[in-house]
Amino acid sequence: MCGIVGYIGTADAKEILLRGLEKLEYRGYDSAGIAIANESGIHVYKEKGRIAALRDVVDTSEESEVGIGHTRWATHGVPSQLNAHPHQSTTSRFTIVHNGVIENYEQLRREYLEGVEMVSDTDTEIIVQLVDTFSKDGLSTEEAFRKTLSLLEGSYATALLDNTDRDTIYVGKNKSPLLIGLADGVNVIASDAMAMLQVTNEFMEIEDKEIVVVTRETAQVKKLDGQEISRDSYIAELDSTDIEKGTYPHYMLKEIDEQPFVIRNIITKYKDENENIKLDEEIRSAVTDADRIYIIAAGTSYHSGLVGKELIEKIAHIPVETHIASEFLYNMPLLSKKPLFIFISQSGETADLRGVLVNVKELGHPALTITNVPGSTLSREADYTLHTHAGPEIAVASTKAYTAQMAVMAILAVDAARAVGVEIDFDPLQELGIVANAMEIFTEKKEVLEEVAREFLSVSRNAFFIGRSLDYYVCMEGALKLKEISYIQAEGFAGGELKHGTIALIEEGTPVIGLATQKDVSLNIRGNMKEVVARGANPCFISMEGCEHEEDTVVMPAVHEYLTPLVSVLPMQIISYYAALHRGCDVDKPRNLAKSVTVE
Ligand code: F6R
Repeated sequence: MCGIVGYIGTADAKEILLRGLEKLEYRGYDSAGIAIANESGIHVYKEKGRIAALRDVVDTSEESEVGIGHTRWATHGVPSQLNAHPHQSTTSRFTIVHNGVIENYEQLRREYLEGVEMVSDTDTEIIVQLVDTFSKDGLSTEEAFRKTLSLLEGSYATALLDNTDRDTIYVGKNKSPLLIGLADGVNVIASDAMAMLQVTNEFMEIEDKEIVVVTRETAQVKKLDGQEISRDSYIAELDSTDIEKGTYPHYMLKEIDEQPFVIRNIITKYKDENENIKLDEEIRSAVTDADRIYIIAAGTSYHSGLVGKELIEKIAHIPVETHIASEFLYNMPLLSKKPLFIFISQSGETADLRGVLVNVKELGHPALTITNVPGSTLSREADYTLHTHAGPEIAVASTKAYTAQMAVMAILAVDAARAVGVEIDFDPLQELGIVANAMEIFTEKKEVLEEVAREFLSVSRNAFFIGRSLDYYVCMEGALKLKEISYIQAEGFAGGELKHGTIALIEEGTPVIGLATQKDVSLNIRGNMKEVVARGANPCFISMEGCEHEEDTVVMPAVHEYLTPLVSVLPMQIISYYAALHRGCDVDKPRNLAKSVTVE
């Protein structure tokens, strides 16, 4: 959470920083700021709210070719102008931006900063005050920066400006993501390459506990003890048009519509020249060697992990448990003898998952990350990575990454089944093609779903999504989508479980959305719907051909029973989108959330 940028070159730094921050707003958007350096000193502008609010306070006449910037998701201290980054040391010599959490900031303050008056409530301020204190003790800026970082416990991606040398940016990283972008006579820094594609597509990674001294011509990587390191750069395979909204009013709608293309892209990426599944032999062995698979994920990715469990167990006959990362981290169950851990994460940066990954590596167990961002922390630190090829997902509410994760898990499950000789009559590459076609009908059915959102959800305080077996997991995801962007209290329930308590919440007009795609339980879920209708619920039924009834609001084209979640989630996503829109909510940037959750 939080995004940082930096620029040192020959162009107008403030405009590049502001544009970069706009691309990073998905990482947090409760306040933002930039600091620019020129011959008259370092000038800081910061404001509560979005980048648009920051633009209003930046002095456009102030010229600069060097600067750093930050967009914040508050952890320590309320969202306010005071707590917004950049922060300055008491002497104003040093200015800093930081993404992460400094766990020992109270202790460091007591030990090193007695008498130094803190201005903000943030943990970040401690970093800049320590650098100032150590430089007063006689250390060079680089030495003071390295000493400070070596004392920090927790996570940081940070960039520092020194008012006595305004042609250098010092950056450091531990656990939080940070990249250096390289160009001719220009270098940049960013939490995510997308922010700086406007300047370059050549990037260099920084490892944990390294610093980089960045000037216009050089980017020198060093360890915290000062030892120099050489690091190769790479060309980011990102197209800047992927991160534009185009003609869409919101990223979320664009990303919903991209799902058929994403599925077709996955088919292409995972197919060899003989039309067979293409997967690394090492990954195949890791899956087939395991006596049990532990899927670890959070939020929407957890919901895809629940579907993944069903797919792997049913198709490959390997036992699977799916766990919420933040729970698993502090309450690990008894593990099997030969476990394989699968981390599912759109961003590849989620702190809860990383905590589990670190523990798992310490125990010596193999780990596979399924992610949309191959160079991400979870991807680099796991033994193996499977890429979901969904393209950048910008809207905070995840849509195409979720369906992509399930598609990749279906392919993985069949590959493993074939490797161990389980007989299956299911060709995922072919069936995913049918899924992609089925998804396409929703580009035409949006009006019906917009009407559902208007009729059922424009004024209601709460809503229920009910389903059974795989449909239950999709209902959990549908409810999460609705609550995160429309702020309606929503719950996804197993249809049979309602009458064991929750049905007490059903009253006249309560919206209940039922889902039926699984033939073996379709009559049961219809029975459960009758129970809530008898108590006044306002019912909406979404079904799939083969399970449909005449009165159903939406009937989806049939797809293979293993893959129904990839299609049935689309109406849920679209209904949530319109519900949020009708209620005047900010669809792409819902309150209190951020796209990349890099704090525990
Ligand atoms: C909801 C959503 C979140 C994420 C969760 C995990 O729409 O996007 O629930 O799924 O924060 O994030 P990743 O997948 O990046 O690990």
